Amino acid sequence: MAGPKGTYDVLPGTEFGAALAVRETLLAPALLAGYAYAESPVFEATELFARGVGESTDVVTKEMFTFSDRADRSLTLRPEGTVGVLRAALDANLHKGQLPVKLRYAGPMFRAERPQAGRYRQFQQVGVEALGLDDPALDAEVVALAWQAFAGLGLRQVRLLLTSLGDPACRPAYRDQLTAFLDGLDLDDDTRRRARLNPLRVLDDKRPEVQAQLAGAPLMVDALCDACRDHLAAVQAGLNALGVPYEAAPTLVRGLDYYMRTTFELVHDGLGAQSAVGGGGRYDGLSQAIGGPPLAGIGWALGVERTVLALRAEGLDVPAEQGVSVFVVPLGAAAKAHAIGLVGRLRTSGIACDLAYGDRGMKGAMKAADRSGASYAVVLGDRDLEAGEAQLKDLREHAQVAVPLDELVETLKERLL
Ligand code: HAM
Repeated sequence: MAGPKGTYDVLPGTEFGAALAVRETLLAPALLAGYAYAESPVFEATELFARGVGESTDVVTKEMFTFSDRADRSLTLRPEGTVGVLRAALDANLHKGQLPVKLRYAGPMFRAERPQAGRYRQFQQVGVEALGLDDPALDAEVVALAWQAFAGLGLRQVRLLLTSLGDPACRPAYRDQLTAFLDGLDLDDDTRRRARLNPLRVLDDKRPEVQAQLAGAPLMVDALCDACRDHLAAVQAGLNALGVPYEAAPTLVRGLDYYMRTTFELVHDGLGAQSAVGGGGRYDGLSQAIGGPPLAGIGWALGVERTVLALRAEGLDVPAEQGVSVFVVPLGAAAKAHAIGLVGRLRTSGIACDLAYGDRGMKGAMKAADRSGASYAVVLGDRDLEAGEAQLKDLREHAQVAVPLDELVETLKERLL
C-alpha cells in the first residue's frame, strides 16, 4: 500500500533511507559556524505564507496544502522554512538580543507540485537563517556554508550561481524598465498576467520562443544603485577570501518573492530538469511583510532528496547510519539468559550491539549477524557458559578466539572504542 501521491517513506534500504545522515552532514558546517538548532511548526496560519512568500508566486497560488481547523481558521502546511523560522524568532524576541541570530533547521516541507524525479509533495530541506544584520561578510559566510555543505559530501558537480536583486532604492526603476521591455514583446495572455504581477519571473520562462525574445532584456545587475553594487562586490570579495567559486547569474530568478540583494542557487548538472539542489538569499523586507519590525535576514535551504540523487549521479557513497558493532548469538536457554545481561553491559559501555532473538539456531543466527553489519559476533553455547568463556568471532577476518566471560566487555572495548 503506497503513501499519498508525491510522498515516499524513509526506511532502511529505501531510496532515501539515508535522509537523516545526509541532513546531519549537510548541516555540519553550519554547526561549526555557530548556527543554533531551531524548529517551528509544520503548519502555520495561511496568511503568514501569503504575506511572506508572496501572492505572485506559484508556491502560494498553486502549491499550498491548505485546510481549515475545527474553528474554521485557515492553516497551511509549510511550503518552506524561512517564514516560519523568522516568525518564531520574532515571537521569542530573539531579535532584541545578540545579533545576528543564527539558526539552523531541518524537516519536511509541503508543495502540491506535479511529482517527478527529484520533485515531491512532501520533501525535506535543511536550512540556515542569519537574522538582524546586513553585513555583506555575513552574506559571504552564509553562501559559503551552502557550498561547504555539498563539498563535505564529496560532490564535485555543484555550481554556485550568484547575483543581486537590488533593493527598494533601485529595483522599482528596474522593474519599470523591464515592464516596458516586456510590453514590446509578443507574449501570450497568461505570461502577460505573470509579467504584471512580477515581471522578473518572466525572465525565468523556459520556453525557447520566450527565451529568444528575452535576449536583449535589461538586467538587474546593470541597474543596481551604488549601495547594492558595493554590497555585491563585498560579498564576492568575501567568497574569494573563503575560496568559494561562484558564477555570475544575472538572470537568476527565485520562486519566492522575498529576496533582495544577495540571491543565489546551487545547481547540480547530473540531475536533469530538477537541477536546483539549494537556494537562498537576503530578505531584509520579510519581517515587515509578516507584521514584524524592520529586520535584515539572509539564509538558504538545501533539498535532501536532490542531494541524495546528486550523490548517486556522481557515483559517491551516500552517508550511512552507523549500525551495530557486535552481534551476540546465544545457543541454548542458559546462554540466552546470560546473553541478555551481556548485551545490556555492552550497550552501557557505549558499544552498539544486538542479540539474535527468536532461538533460530546457529546457522540462522550467524546469517543475522552478517546482515547486521557487525564487526564481531559473540557466540555463547551452554558448554562455553560452563567453561566460563565465549567465542569471539571477527566477522571481517573470519578469525575466532575464546575469551573469558568476565573479560568480554573489556576486550571488545579495546578493539572497538
Ligand atoms: P527554494 O529554492 O524554494 O528555497 O527551495 C530550496 C531547495 O529545496 C530547492 O533548491 C530544492 O533542492 C528543494 N526543493 C524545493 N521544492 C522541492 C520539491 N517539490 N521536491 C524536492 N525538493 C524540493 C526555499 O525554500 C527558501 N526558504 C530558501 C531560503 C532560506 N531563502 C532564504 N532562507
